[in-house]
Amino acid sequence: MIVGVPKEVKVRECRVAIVPGGVKLLTQQGHKVLFQKNAGLGAGIPDESYRKAGAEIVPSAEDIWQRSEMIIKVKEPIAQEYPLMRSGQILYTYLHLAAVPELARALMDKGVRAIAYETIELSDGSLPLLKPMSEVAGRAAVQVGARCLEKHSGGKGLLLGGVPGVNRGRVVIIGGGVVGINSAKMAVGLGAEVTVLDVNQGRLAYLDDIFGSRISTLMSNPENIAKEVPRADLLIGGVLVTGAKAPCLVSRELVKQMDPGSAIVDVAIDQGGSIETIRPTTHDEPTYCEEGIIHYGVTNIPGNVPQTSTYALTNVTLGYALELANKGFHQALKDSNALRKGLNVCEGKITYEAVASALNLQYQAYS
Ligand SMILES: NC(=O)c1ccc[n+]([C@@H]2O[C@H](COP(=O)([O-])OP(=O)(O)OC[C@H]3O[C@@H](n4cnc5c(N)ncnc54)[C@H](O)[C@@H]3O)[C@@H](O)[C@H]2O)c1
Repeated sequence: MIVGVPKEVKVRECRVAIVPGGVKLLTQQGHKVLFQKNAGLGAGIPDESYRKAGAEIVPSAEDIWQRSEMIIKVKEPIAQEYPLMRSGQILYTYLHLAAVPELARALMDKGVRAIAYETIELSDGSLPLLKPMSEVAGRAAVQVGARCLEKHSGGKGLLLGGVPGVNRGRVVIIGGGVVGINSAKMAVGLGAEVTVLDVNQGRLAYLDDIFGSRISTLMSNPENIAKEVPRADLLIGGVLVTGAKAPCLVSRELVKQMDPGSAIVDVAIDQGGSIETIRPTTHDEPTYCEEGIIHYGVTNIPGNVPQTSTYALTNVTLGYALELANKGFHQALKDSNALRKGLNVCEGKITYEAVASALNLQYQAYS
């Protein structure tokens, strides 16, 4: 199979979808890898390493999209890439379609076979290709949140860990999944007071077991959210209802009750966010102030730490890419429930139910 890896074009997205080790495995198994010139530079990997691994270095994105049977990317295509997509082409990347209806439409119109990293699901319900980026984003959320609280960032001027004789900062995390637990680890590490809310009692019990008395856990419901949010110096959103738009859990009225200069980092912004006042931002202008609160809504947080993120991501994406390349699209999907779950759009149809319902489009199961 001809596999193409274009350079990422989303603002300040420096990750790349494959590392030289991955190129080597694909080429050893008889595939051709087209790699866009300088696509690895942001992650600190020069073209020469890809060339040595067996890739053909291609100057333009147009050539890559034109010649490849499968495109491997990191982030969802943006408008400038829509015209490059081709009928029958496999697109293997993060998509988050519930939040980007125009991309869903473009994929349908172009007849692309689009597999979303974030909905590839194992039989135990876990999402192996979302996990490493959620680990990165969850940890980074506390780092950027701490920065937002600094006076020169427009924040109230608070150190999350406090110092002896002075209160610690309060971190409230809604959603105790992979993002939530990683945020909790970092916040606890900084010495903050941490509360995690989740709707899953089993998950709360697990968090309680591993953190013990270093965090508080609470059932996520409107009453507890209304109590906790106004007390938060840093509010982190990390909820997920797989494939669907994030539920709105924190109203503008609640945000208004937070102390001026507090901060909100809604990691779930890539699924629309769960805080009424959050909107998507980019690494160029990551924050804005609304209702006196610093908001951070970057949709590709791991893009800012591309060395860590590229290796963490490609560790888990390569296996499925090899399956697709070795077996071809239909056989690979036939053999793998996980890959079938990943298929969001196929030849003009939405094949993932939660995406269809979020976008009010017809769902058709892949067969
Ligand atoms: N912005 C970024 O750069 C970035 C990076 C990685 C992940 N994400 C996003 O972060 C979000 C969380 O990802 P994850 O891997 O942690 O998912 P996860 O499935 O591991 O965890 C989600 C948690 O949310 C909980 N939840 C669901 N509804 C809830 C509610 N009403 N109240 C409280 N908790 C609720 C679930 O029980 C689960 O524990 C996703 O939207 C993901 O796409 C964003």
